Amino acid sequence: MSSLVDGELPGTLFHPPPHLERTAHVPGMDTYRRMYAESVEHPEAFWANIAQEFFWKTPATGPLFNWNFDVRKGPIATNFMTGATTNISYNALDRHVACGLGDKTAFIWEGNNHGDEGKITYSQLLEEVSKFSNVLKAAGLEKGDRVAIYLPMILELPIAILACARIGVVHSVVFGGFSADSLAERMLDGKCSVLVTADGVWRGDKFIDLKKIADEAAAKCLAHGHKTTRKIVVKHMGPCPVTQQNGTTNGVLNGNGHDHAKGDGRGKVPRVDRYCSKKHHKELITQWDDQVDWWWHEEVAKVEATCPPVWMDSEDPLFLLYTSGSTGKPKGILHTVAGYMVYAALTFKCVFDYQDDDVYWCTADAGWITGHSYVVYGPLLNGATGIVFEGIPTYPQPDRFWEVVEKYRVTKFYTAPTAIRSLMKFGEEIVLKHDRSSLKILGSVGEPINPEAWLWYHKYVGEERCPIVDTFWQTETGGHVLTPLPAATPLKPGSATLPFFGVLPAVLDEDGHEISQPDCEGYLVFKQAWPGVMRSIYGDHKRYENLYFGKFPGYYTTGDGCKRDKDGYYWITGRIDDMVNVSGHLLSTAEIESALIEHPGVSEAAVVSHPHPIKGECTYGFVTMKVGHVFNKQTVSELKLKVREKIGAFAVPDFLQDAPGLPKTRSGKIMRRVLRKIACGDRALGDISTLADSDVVETLFKLRPSNA
Ligand code: WT7
Repeated sequence: MSSLVDGELPGTLFHPPPHLERTAHVPGMDTYRRMYAESVEHPEAFWANIAQEFFWKTPATGPLFNWNFDVRKGPIATNFMTGATTNISYNALDRHVACGLGDKTAFIWEGNNHGDEGKITYSQLLEEVSKFSNVLKAAGLEKGDRVAIYLPMILELPIAILACARIGVVHSVVFGGFSADSLAERMLDGKCSVLVTADGVWRGDKFIDLKKIADEAAAKCLAHGHKTTRKIVVKHMGPCPVTQQNGTTNGVLNGNGHDHAKGDGRGKVPRVDRYCSKKHHKELITQWDDQVDWWWHEEVAKVEATCPPVWMDSEDPLFLLYTSGSTGKPKGILHTVAGYMVYAALTFKCVFDYQDDDVYWCTADAGWITGHSYVVYGPLLNGATGIVFEGIPTYPQPDRFWEVVEKYRVTKFYTAPTAIRSLMKFGEEIVLKHDRSSLKILGSVGEPINPEAWLWYHKYVGEERCPIVDTFWQTETGGHVLTPLPAATPLKPGSATLPFFGVLPAVLDEDGHEISQPDCEGYLVFKQAWPGVMRSIYGDHKRYENLYFGKFPGYYTTGDGCKRDKDGYYWITGRIDDMVNVSGHLLSTAEIESALIEHPGVSEAAVVSHPHPIKGECTYGFVTMKVGHVFNKQTVSELKLKVREKIGAFAVPDFLQDAPGLPKTRSGKIMRRVLRKIACGDRALGDISTLADSDVVETLFKLRPSNA
């Protein structure tokens, strides 16, 4: 049992349970400190040693690890295992199959609806991946080309990702909640000629017509001078096409208990697949264009089941993943093969203290970086069994998470504070009624976890015996950078604690000076590279250099503020730029503003972050109408629709208010600080002497919506 020591919160420390130490990869703080010192003092030797666990087709021919973080000394660059060749899908699949892990379950698929489920072993996954690599080749793709993937959480998502990686095609996964506009924008920026999607998906009780959105996005790309987009479409709705056509199983993805294979006399092995079960089929009138649309299942039936990996240079691109930029234009974060591979694998192994018999579940969607590193790559590189979950925490009931934990006897569980907070309100009974005795380690990611949610998670989910790893990182960092290690780090609720191996944080003041005393507050930066750090913004290396290394030359700037306490623990205080963290995902206020001003009646809009009890933060928009246009209920729904169309439903502001004028400085800059106060109804506005017209403020207070 972890014990409460050092009195009450906030000084309370939660110590690692001693039994974890016996088998842990990093047992105890002394081991952590020794390994950490080595990793930052001798990074080349440290990482070269870690790299030995992986398969390299040819060895490094140059420096094993070097970098430049200082624009004054030349271009920003990081090089890992210079000149070596490898393949991440080979390391994630073939390497394990060759060691006898072929029959181990790689993924358990748990669908949106009860009864939709399946399993795939490592050797089956290798075969499916190889087949899809061959399909991509048949579509004309070669090493270095980009493919957009717009899929729900079904097994084809990791399969498509790995199939790209196998042949050196750069994947660009776009989260299935993004709109056609956002998908098109990302496809255009990445110059993607192929789009992998599905006919549709249920998320809770909402149906999302993915194919229709994909068609719209492809049409938009065409209108912007793009070549036609080849679409490869998974049939996820409707009866399983393979079993329907030839009446036999296709030999993979076998499992148990499903609807449409029961009693059908098609052989002893019940076929379970990633198709949603019969009762949830949807009759789709899928628009189909034989010239450009391919069914996934038809194409994989035509190709060979093996595909040799393409040996990639260590620093060849592996994937792009778009993240919001504070100017409103999304950034294609570029990660490369070897550094990302080694970093995702090692963080997974140490932070979740991976053991062979683990059943690991990260609830994130693979459309985000958390899913890339900790649903797909990290677990597979370690030979783990992971769960791919298609659903949402509250469907069909708010005990879905704990039901799944019980069903599969999950040992390591990783989710977001927003999910915890959304479940807390249903009370602990629905947690307690499920058996959680299999759980060993809990994780949190995406935003600061408030101590109240931390303690609830610890007490009710983890039965006060499971350490919580609060992992701070970013799309840009590739993997965890500040995080506890479960059998070493004493925990403080709300703190992401200490740096991972190879990560050297510093706290800077406004002038860019490093603050040396432990107890301080300022900008969180990193002083040296770790292998998993992003290498560039796709197509715009200058923007990368300016954005991440321009403000404080010599340092990687996270964009987050932090506090460091007397023990050297880090506490993230939130973004210091115009980004809002809604339910663990960064949104740019500028991007939402530009969607709002597309409304013909709007002359100006300002969006600020606003506290939200479940999402952590939400967005609050102030909208100035053009003369002759009124702001009413109708306007609010039109504005929300605009944001839904331009970005996606998850970006729709929670509050919109009429703003006949906006508070501005004499030089015309919108005073967002004042808007944030107004949104909260807080009249302690601080210094407003620079405000050009102070009457504006009073008007805005009066027009605040009553529910804000
Ligand atoms: C931003 C990165 C990488 C995970 C998914 C989000 C915030 C992330 C934590 C944490 C406090 C956190 C930061 C960061 N963040 N994890 N454990 N504690 N803040 O990836 O969309 O790239 O967002 O999320 O503000 O900069 P992302």
